Amino acid sequence: MFRTHTCGELRIENAGNEVTLAGWVQKSRKLGGMTFIDLRDRYGITQLVVDGEASESLQELATSLGREFVLQVKGVVVERQSKNPKMPTGDIEITVKDIKVLNKAQTPPFTIEENSDGGEDLRAHYRYLDLRRPPLQRALALRHRLAQEIRNYLDKEGFMEIETPYLIKSTPEGARDFVVPSRMNPGQFYALPQSPQTFKQLLMVAGYDRYFQIVRCFRDEDLRADRQPEFTQIDCEMSFVDQEDVLKTFEGMMRQMFKNALGVEIANPIPRMSWYDAMDQYGSDKPDIRFGMTIHNVTDWAKGKGFGVFDGSEYIGAINVPGAAAYTRKEIDQLTEWVKRPQVGAKGLVYVKWNEDGSLKSSVDKFYTPEQLAELATIMEASKGDMMLLLCGPKRKTQGQLGVLRLEMGERLGYRDPKVFAPLWIVDFPLLEWSEEDGRFYAMHHPFTAPKPEHEQWFYSDKKEDLERVCANAYDFVLNGSELGGGSIRIYDAQMQERMFEVLGISKEDAEYKFGFIVNAFKFGAPPHGGLAFGFDRICALFGGQETIRDYIAFPKNNQGRDVMIDSPSRIDDLQLEELQIELKSVE
Ligand code: AMO
Repeated sequence: MFRTHTCGELRIENAGNEVTLAGWVQKSRKLGGMTFIDLRDRYGITQLVVDGEASESLQELATSLGREFVLQVKGVVVERQSKNPKMPTGDIEITVKDIKVLNKAQTPPFTIEENSDGGEDLRAHYRYLDLRRPPLQRALALRHRLAQEIRNYLDKEGFMEIETPYLIKSTPEGARDFVVPSRMNPGQFYALPQSPQTFKQLLMVAGYDRYFQIVRCFRDEDLRADRQPEFTQIDCEMSFVDQEDVLKTFEGMMRQMFKNALGVEIANPIPRMSWYDAMDQYGSDKPDIRFGMTIHNVTDWAKGKGFGVFDGSEYIGAINVPGAAAYTRKEIDQLTEWVKRPQVGAKGLVYVKWNEDGSLKSSVDKFYTPEQLAELATIMEASKGDMMLLLCGPKRKTQGQLGVLRLEMGERLGYRDPKVFAPLWIVDFPLLEWSEEDGRFYAMHHPFTAPKPEHEQWFYSDKKEDLERVCANAYDFVLNGSELGGGSIRIYDAQMQERMFEVLGISKEDAEYKFGFIVNAFKFGAPPHGGLAFGFDRICALFGGQETIRDYIAFPKNNQGRDVMIDSPSRIDDLQLEELQIELKSVE
């Protein structure tokens, strides 16, 4: 046998056993006449000891071992003199009888331990070494566990796992496509799927009834902590269902994942909030409901008191920050600068403090009497010691800024504990979103989302106000301020789908060229259907208590969309370009 045990397995009960282990040298140190070696594999770390009793050659070999050498070690399990309660194997060590160096290693460019001394770029360059570190191994183990839970649950619920192609035609999910030139069809390109949206709908037309896939999706968009250019969805679709069926099915899946992977019981049922309430109260379509501090519309209170900035604003909103009356002038100035940063985008910040001594102090004392400020405190349900923060401007924009400020204040107050999980469904989205810039409507989810049946008359109206009122049977799954998933009940009628393209300003020819296949399919007996997709990387990161998805993906891209380990994207040689009949305009 190559090894009798793993490096995470041996306990005090094994004392006296002769064992063989294999793994990597995490570190070694000499103490008096003894050499201690930490041997690591993916299951843990076991301490090896080469003592004065060992042969001279063994002692010599032990001192010559470098970090990350690969060893096979034979020895006897003994109880440790000084135990390490922090390590699962901390009660024992191995008295080494024989060491075989299976492979030497160059000194690694950073320490491969729980916490590394290597910077992000360096670790990305040597990702295979970083992946040896326990936090990354835990992250990928969690990902694996969750994938198994998903497959088990969906299989039991009658879902079939069906693969869909990667070389397709553009799917409109709002981002840019990655494209792949076709050698056999010169001048023509495939697009990599932003999601399998149209294919899963076609599978419903084909009668597969319940489909799922843990599938890679590709979007050429600006990257953030929770976005990668290629990421994984848990993509699902169901036939003969309404919104309630879909939400129930996937609440069940999330509940099982939380329970089996984390031992956490989440709210049952998961609360629901309309998109309008989310925007009004949290300034976000993905509210973090682990804490209150909700947004109040104080427009009526604020206006008409002679303060020009408020009087000239469409909307004035406020949040009440508990205990923040203690903020100093300097801290408030810093907060004001913070809200003015482009990431928040507010023009300024008005504060009203309710001091511990009962007095009210604000940055607008000139315009509001103490009684009027007290009235605001009542509206805001503030207490002594609190500070109210007010922003003004166009309604949705200001709510968004208040939402960002709310999250920041929640963070500062320690309300955003990554071990507390507050899932939420956002429902009743508007179907369409008007873009002032482009002078046209965009689909809030995607063009295959159906209007709510009771709003259909507005959907067929030509008036902008009517179209803006139409709600969709669409839903998002939100966890701790992160959008983990979204979906909708779909259009399954060819005429309604054509109307949708018309509303979106897509010409008949363009619609036929891009989506003719799906509109046609709807003419052959499409069943009512709906579904959703979860962002699997995001689920893994949040379950692991992180916001950045990169460590939950074995080989991720950096912020510039590069894989620095394999140095990609990269140029291709002239012959390849020639075969593809592609000429580059300029090459640096
Ligand atoms: P949507 O575009 O909302 O819906 O995507 C579903 C979920 O995928 C995750 N996600 C991402 N994760 C990491 N990196 C990215 N670049 C990225 N983009 C999206 C999010 C998101 O909630 N076809 C529809 C689903 C449907 O209607 O059934 C779709 O793709 O967690």
